[in-house]
Amino acid sequence: MDTSASVESWLVAAGRNSTPGSPLNVPLYPASNFVLGGQRAYARGDSTPGWEALEEIVGGLDGGSSLLFASGMAAVAAVFEQLPTGSVIALPDDCYQGATGLARAGERRGRWTVKRLATTDTAGWIKMCEVADLIWLESPSNPLLNVADVDIICAAPRKRGAILGVDNTFATPLNQRPLALGADVAVQSATKFIGGHSDLLGGVVSVRDANLLAGLQEARDLAGATPGTLEAFLAVRGVRTLAIRLERAQSNAMVLAEKLSRHPNVSLTRYPGLASHPTYEAARRQLKGFGTIISFDVRGGAAAADAVCRGLKLIQHATSLGAVESTIERRACIHGQEHLPPSLLRLSVGIEAVDDLWADLDRVLRQPIPA
Ligand SMILES: Cc1ncc(COP(=O)(O)O)c(C=O)c1O
Repeated sequence: MDTSASVESWLVAAGRNSTPGSPLNVPLYPASNFVLGGQRAYARGDSTPGWEALEEIVGGLDGGSSLLFASGMAAVAAVFEQLPTGSVIALPDDCYQGATGLARAGERRGRWTVKRLATTDTAGWIKMCEVADLIWLESPSNPLLNVADVDIICAAPRKRGAILGVDNTFATPLNQRPLALGADVAVQSATKFIGGHSDLLGGVVSVRDANLLAGLQEARDLAGATPGTLEAFLAVRGVRTLAIRLERAQSNAMVLAEKLSRHPNVSLTRYPGLASHPTYEAARRQLKGFGTIISFDVRGGAAAADAVCRGLKLIQHATSLGAVESTIERRACIHGQEHLPPSLLRLSVGIEAVDDLWADLDRVLRQPIPA
């Protein structure tokens, strides 16, 4: 990324074709096959201009080279694929269930061993850096929003050949740049903030090392984990407004988190921007903004939390996050998340008017708790 350009301008200007007479936007690029003798022969291995537009934009934001994948999980899997058999993976105990499931499945098949650590156990992570082949951080974490000491952990000496990866989905490169903090790999589910409209699946990996980039490219090619044509187009269209969407949703989230934390029917509000959050200091140090996700516990247990989800009108009862519309779900319902507090609701705050969002929440939180 041109360091003189601000992030907001880069998001709008990057990934375009400036040849006179060409369309301003890289058009939909439906191509699997190319006339032989040129730069590309077959899209799975040789890419398409549609994917490369998004890769240029995100690579610039992350400060590395990026590859677009079919989904966030395809991107995570390509990173895990880099590990030799017999590796040790260090994984946070509060981590997206897909990454946990992938690690566990590989362990069952004898591919690697998995060690789990608390996101906040910085001393443990530093020790792990000396023995693990993959140090996997997710910060802020899903759904407890714990912020790891990414800067401190990245600075610790690592085992030779080890990869330190950060799932940066919740922060986005606008709030945190893992490669600049010393990570080898930054991963995002492009399904979330990059796309921003709940209409695509995608994932992006950014790295600085050319060998790692080649390994990831090979993994994408061999697994066929390539993005769809329309999805790449939509992701570029979506990412153009990332800065403005994030700014608005983040400011909404701060207001709602403060109000939720004072609400009589909410027993606990987790938001990295609240001084009461256990990792508030790490968040202040490392994140440019506190993000758009809030987790809160409703008084009255699972039944009360389900009633909140059912009663909301503006906020959609749906999974996922990072879109223009606010969504909410009870996370303990999700397979692999049963260990979470039964009344924990994860709210992804969108760009609606904050007063309307609060009116919706306050109305359902005040309704009688179901027996
Ligand atoms: C933190 C995190 N990482 C990765 C993923 C996986 O992304 P995708 O659903 O695009 O495969 C998700 C999905 O929810 C996520 O929340």
